[in-house]
Amino acid sequence: MSRALVTGASRGIGKAIAAALRDAGYEVVATARKPEALAPQDRIPGITYHALDLSDAGSIESLVRAAGPVDVLVSNAGQSQIGAVEELPVADVKRLFEANLFGALRLIQLFLPGMRQRRSGKVIAIASMAAVSPVPFLSSYSASKAALVALMRGLRYEVAPFGITVAVVAPFDIHTTIPLDIRYDSRSAYLPDIATVHEKRDKALAEAPGAELVGAEVISILRARRPGFFHPVGREAAMNAFLLRHLPAGAVERIIRRLFGLTRGAASP
Ligand SMILES: NC(=O)c1ccc[n+]([C@@H]2O[C@H](COP(=O)([O-])OP(=O)(O)OC[C@H]3O[C@@H](n4cnc5c(N)ncnc54)[C@H](OP(=O)(O)O)[C@@H]3O)[C@@H](O)[C@H]2O)c1
Repeated sequence: MSRALVTGASRGIGKAIAAALRDAGYEVVATARKPEALAPQDRIPGITYHALDLSDAGSIESLVRAAGPVDVLVSNAGQSQIGAVEELPVADVKRLFEANLFGALRLIQLFLPGMRQRRSGKVIAIASMAAVSPVPFLSSYSASKAALVALMRGLRYEVAPFGITVAVVAPFDIHTTIPLDIRYDSRSAYLPDIATVHEKRDKALAEAPGAELVGAEVISILRARRPGFFHPVGREAAMNAFLLRHLPAGAVERIIRRLFGLTRGAASP
């Protein structure tokens, strides 16, 4: 039986991926920062839970030791943040990158030697479409995901000779309760745009499709004989990804402004 590890499986997308993997016949190891605090209804029967805090190098090393060899690594755990680029405390952005980028990188690094020795393995990172089209005021989040996608794209070339495949899943909005690290207040120079984006983001997530969609995408990547690299997922994901790639940059900007209700145009002071 193949073994799969999913980070951040206490709820949301990670939980749905872990359930899909179990249903597809994988032995699943899942992580949460505090697995002992998970309520019985939050645990998926048949899955082993381990502690992992991606902001803590020691925790990453302990997890890798405790988990043992895995055939599939799904790097899903992540955090979000809202704030104007001008006003974001750099320390908070570093903390975000610690979880979304550096922690994920370290974890992947530690699983790769085993995969190389076995000359097989699959690494799937959950990024975001914000990596391709940054969301205003979620710029730090978008940047952390863009960096993750770039790392994974490079990694895909590097590990191919060892029989390891690398793919990225890029969700659009998915209905989860992912907390927003709020880095603005009523004194922000960027009100009301930032408040509008915040409101629209919350509404979009509330009305978005469920996380099972991402679980199904992960399974279809694992079943593919030669999986591609970049997998947009969500409502009209393929169409949106196509438009983002092929529309002129000015048109994309106008769509993003309209989508997020930004009141001031590019030429305004
Ligand atoms: N929801 C969306 O619309 C959407 C869209 C695009 C991309 N994504 C990405 O999909 C992934 C999952 O998002 P989600 O919406 O399912 O969020 P979520 O419901 O908040 O789940 C996040 C998971 O990550 C874990 N986590 C957070 N910080 C961590 C850390 N420092 N170390 C280890 N684990 C940590 C959480 O574990 P704890 O139980 O320990 O808190 C939780 O299990 C994220 O990478 C997110 O950026 C989501």
